[in-house]
Amino acid sequence: MVTRIPAAPNPSHPQVAVMATSGVHLRLVATAILCFLLAIFVQINAYGAFPTREVISKWAELFQERLLVDLDKFTGIKNLEKTYDDLRKAKLHKIDGHALVEKMSNDITQDLKKKLDALERLVTEAEKKVIGYKYDPSIKKSDVNFVKLKDFEDNDRRLVYSEKYKKGVNFSYSGVHIPVEIWDESLEILNGLKWTSQLDEFFIENIKNDSDLMWQYFGSQSGFMRSYPASQWIIIPRKPNFPDLYDVRLRNWYVHASTSPKDMLILMDSSGSMHGQTMEIMKIAVKTLLTTLGENDFVNIISFNSTAKWISCFDTLVQANRRNKQILSKAIDYIEDGNMAKLSVGLEFAFKAFAQFKENRSEPYAGSECNQVIMLFSDGGTEEAWEVLEKYNSDKTVSNFFKAYCFNLNMLIS
Ligand SMILES: *[C@@H]1O[C@H](CO)[C@@H](O)[C@H](O)[C@H]1NC(C)=O
Ligand SMILES: *[C@@H]1O[C@H](CO)[C@@H](O)[C@H](O)[C@H]1NC(C)=O
Ligand SMILES: *[C@@H]1O[C@H](CO)[C@@H](O)[C@H](O)[C@H]1NC(C)=O
Ligand SMILES: *[C@@H]1O[C@H](CO)[C@@H](O)[C@H](O)[C@H]1NC(C)=O
Repeated sequence: MVTRIPAAPNPSHPQVAVMATSGVHLRLVATAILCFLLAIFVQINAYGAFPTREVISKWAELFQERLLVDLDKFTGIKNLEKTYDDLRKAKLHKIDGHALVEKMSNDITQDLKKKLDALERLVTEAEKKVIGYKYDPSIKKSDVNFVKLKDFEDNDRRLVYSEKYKKGVNFSYSGVHIPVEIWDESLEILNGLKWTSQLDEFFIENIKNDSDLMWQYFGSQSGFMRSYPASQWIIIPRKPNFPDLYDVRLRNWYVHASTSPKDMLILMDSSGSMHGQTMEIMKIAVKTLLTTLGENDFVNIISFNSTAKWISCFDTLVQANRRNKQILSKAIDYIEDGNMAKLSVGLEFAFKAFAQFKENRSEPYAGSECNQVIMLFSDGGTEEAWEVLEKYNSDKTVSNFFKAYCFNLNMLIS
């Protein structure tokens, strides 16, 4: 009997998957053979006498034929052999994973940069428009041309279905959303709508320049939002009569954008004089401060007495996300006091850390460019602090916009 069974698969070889499925088939074949053998024995018993040599060899031939057919049927062995032959012709290419990831990262950075440029253009133009706009104290609704997103109906004729947006849109203008509790004929809203209507031309320009761009929004402090392209407003959750609770000023993107991102180093005086209640108050104050930081901020904490050190395993500024803030908050509990406070040591440590962070930034957009803040918590005299600050910031190596805030805990307590 000549059946060619492929060589045992090499477990580290990618063909393992193929072999695993044919393993199931082999079990089927085994069942088939068993049935076949049973059939033969039933036949033998029916004959009553032992078959002759010729009959047996005929059976053997039949058996072999049938087995080959079944084997191929269940295992696809012919296909497998062909695949092996094809594989021998195929070539193996080594892929440079590092280069691949780098290319992907570059592509993403490029793409993000395009979006950032579009956004910057919008911001610049918006600033120009608002400066050039003259507030009109007697403005009327009829003076302002705007379309409310909520006024679009199902299958509105002004909207054309777009595959990209997965809904009906109109690229000619932006639509406006105003929260329900705001009177949309108030002077502030009407004036706001009037000057922002000039943004449409830039929305349109941006999308012409970058067809990947999706929605563009403008959120106003007075509560209205412009959304381009115009489309029907959908209240989420989609329940009948569910009130529209949307207010752009409560959206994450609005909150993050309206409080400017900052890089913050917190200096905590851990000298002997801080012992006791002062230390406890400082710890609570710093933990509270941490909670006010958002994901666009970068932060780290330094403790200093006669020497200075990071309070946690982070040795540079880290994103103020939930996890990092938790780690820092826990580390605050382990700060111990002792020795004399040397403010210059602490500040020098902080300035160096800023310089290093700027130079060794992991990615182009990590950290804020212009808002660098040192928060100093100490019971020492503030005069000394300002002197030292002057000295370290005189060459403006850190940033022209560098700010320092000192908190004197002596005053807080007394
Ligand atoms: C957009 O709306 C205006 C009127 O509101 C309409 O004239 C125009 O045809 C619409 N655009 C498209 C693409 O439907
Ligand atoms: C279009 O995009 C290019 C490259 O991103 C940019 O240089 C150019 O200023 C943009 N033009 C307009 C009109 O937005
Ligand atoms: C300050 O002093 C104490 C006790 O001498 C010490 O445990 C602590 O690590 C010191 N340094 C800093 C930077 O907090
Ligand atoms: C940037 O990182 C490298 C390697 O980690 C380090 O040697 C260098 O000193 C860092 N730059 C600054 C300004 O500290």
